[in-house]
Amino acid sequence: MTKIALIGPNGRMGRFVEGLLEGREELEIVARIGRSDDLASSLNGAQVGLDLTVAGLGADHARTLLDHGVRPLIGTSGVDPAEDAPLDALARSKGLGGLIVPNFCLGVWLQQRLALDATRFLKSVEIVEEHYSGKVDAPSGTAKDTAAQLEQALGRQPGSLGVHAVRVDGLYSNQQIIFGGTGEVLRLTHQTFGLEAFGSGILASLGYVAQAQGVARGVGHAFEWSAARG
Ligand SMILES: NC(=O)c1ccc[n+]([C@@H]2O[C@H](COP(=O)([O-])OP(=O)(O)OC[C@H]3O[C@@H](n4cnc5c(N)ncnc54)[C@H](OP(=O)(O)O)[C@@H]3O)[C@@H](O)[C@H]2O)c1
Repeated sequence: MTKIALIGPNGRMGRFVEGLLEGREELEIVARIGRSDDLASSLNGAQVGLDLTVAGLGADHARTLLDHGVRPLIGTSGVDPAEDAPLDALARSKGLGGLIVPNFCLGVWLQQRLALDATRFLKSVEIVEEHYSGKVDAPSGTAKDTAAQLEQALGRQPGSLGVHAVRVDGLYSNQQIIFGGTGEVLRLTHQTFGLEAFGSGILASLGYVAQAQGVARGVGHAFEWSAARG
């Protein structure tokens, strides 16, 4: 049984997680922590803190959770990769682990893996991401994360890869990675049609974080861990 503090329970993702965990004996939500609650004093014995709040809060919440002996699973957008090493050191100093997940979708992780492979042969690349008009951050945390991985693979400066954000009504969440070759173009497209796309990644991440040592980034750690267990 893993005891979970759900941080941001009233948002779109928070409500989705409530439904996802309903009836699962191995995962219990023991705290629901909203905007007006004090995070540190509301944890109620939780082992894992699943943060789904507002871009910019994730790293602070991860530190608070670790300071109080709780393993952070940060799904909130916008955790700067520069935060990873200090969070990892803090977690290890306490014998804890955690995970920062810019995107819980299996398909996005696979898209990124395919794109990283393509950078061995195709060097001209940009990202186009499309979301509903109400999304507060642009470019999306997923696009920034994808760009950072591609820049590293291509040996390019951070922030140098073109990322284009489209925000219009009616869209849900799509990301296209476009590679240019000689007289040819390769498009790797991921499309999301509903919150259920995040379900398997959230469940795998909760299992992974409950036993992790140190803080890692990316849902791939959770999918690999889950696949290794069979
Ligand atoms: N990793 C992924 O795969 C993934 C997927 C989708 C979304 N996201 C990210 O997850 C986050 C949540 O998304 P969403 O669509 O659920 O957003 P949302 O509907 O706007 O919900 C955010 C919730 O966070 C609450 N909140 C704000 N500040 C808080 C605080 N200090 N402590 C606790 N709760 C606080 C808000 O409370 P009020 O109701 O009082 O305003 C709101 O209920 C965003 O950063 C989004 O980009 C990540």
